[in-house]
Amino acid sequence: MLKGRHLLDPMDFSLEEIEEILNLGEKISKNPEKFSKACQGKILATLFYEPSTRTRFSFEAAMLRLGGQVIGFSEPNSSSVAKGESIADTIRTIACYADIAVIRHPKEGAPRVAAMYSKIPVINAGDGGHQHPTQTLTDLLTIKSLKGRLSNLTIGLCGDLKFGRTVHSLIKAMSRYKDNKFILISPKELRVPDYIKREVLQKNNIEFLEVERIEDVIEKLDILYMTRVQRERFFNEEEYLRLKDSYILDNSKLKNAKEDMIILHPLPRVNEIAVEVDEDKRAKYFEQAKYGMFVRMALIIKLLGVEEC
Ligand code: CP
Repeated sequence: MLKGRHLLDPMDFSLEEIEEILNLGEKISKNPEKFSKACQGKILATLFYEPSTRTRFSFEAAMLRLGGQVIGFSEPNSSSVAKGESIADTIRTIACYADIAVIRHPKEGAPRVAAMYSKIPVINAGDGGHQHPTQTLTDLLTIKSLKGRLSNLTIGLCGDLKFGRTVHSLIKAMSRYKDNKFILISPKELRVPDYIKREVLQKNNIEFLEVERIEDVIEKLDILYMTRVQRERFFNEEEYLRLKDSYILDNSKLKNAKEDMIILHPLPRVNEIAVEVDEDKRAKYFEQAKYGMFVRMALIIKLLGVEEC
């Protein structure tokens, strides 16, 4: 039963519950019009303490396409946060006005604190370098729709695997499906944190390999998941400048890739995928952004427990 629940971590939902959301997301993607009144009379609040394009707009578009309405802020200084209000008091207040809240925050764990004080479902829309569970739902729906399965895949994750919260969430989620393997492509300085390797990969006997060059492994991949170097999480600008262009995927690097490999990226992109790659049929990152809206429509319906059409 998903009605009234929070989504703070990709592991909060069972595999069956995720499947329920993905199945509904797939149904919505095929006929969104059919759901245009599902959330009439309901209000979604978006509390964004950090910048966003896809997550905020896709949540807002999702609620509007479901016939509901949206309130919120994208700039915390325009709310009483600027006067020093705590996240606990903010969510208690928002819960008086809205039926469901989406929170992005630079501090790891902030949405969890909000959930502790909230009478309405709270969705984590990204907390610091920690987790981004609705990006994971987006990635799962994209992979399921385009590859036809979530198991038996070789997944290459490339770029900033240290600070990239989407990568941390995706490893957790894909580790729950059978026979998936990970190839972790990053400079030494930006490797996946040890706690994820230990507590997720090693603990579950998941096969993984750490390498530094895309060209050495690209022919093995079913999915290449590119990520941006997360400038906002670096303590040292010089270190960021040194590492920011570690990977630039271009047509020459795709030479040996499988014909049916898919290229994903949570976006925004900076330099890590050359614009020429956008024309390659394997480039699916803008399609991925669209699946993000459909899966968020499904998530809102499930957490509100409104009638499906
Ligand atoms: N993928 C993602 O979270 O994008 P935004 O930062 O634009 O929301």
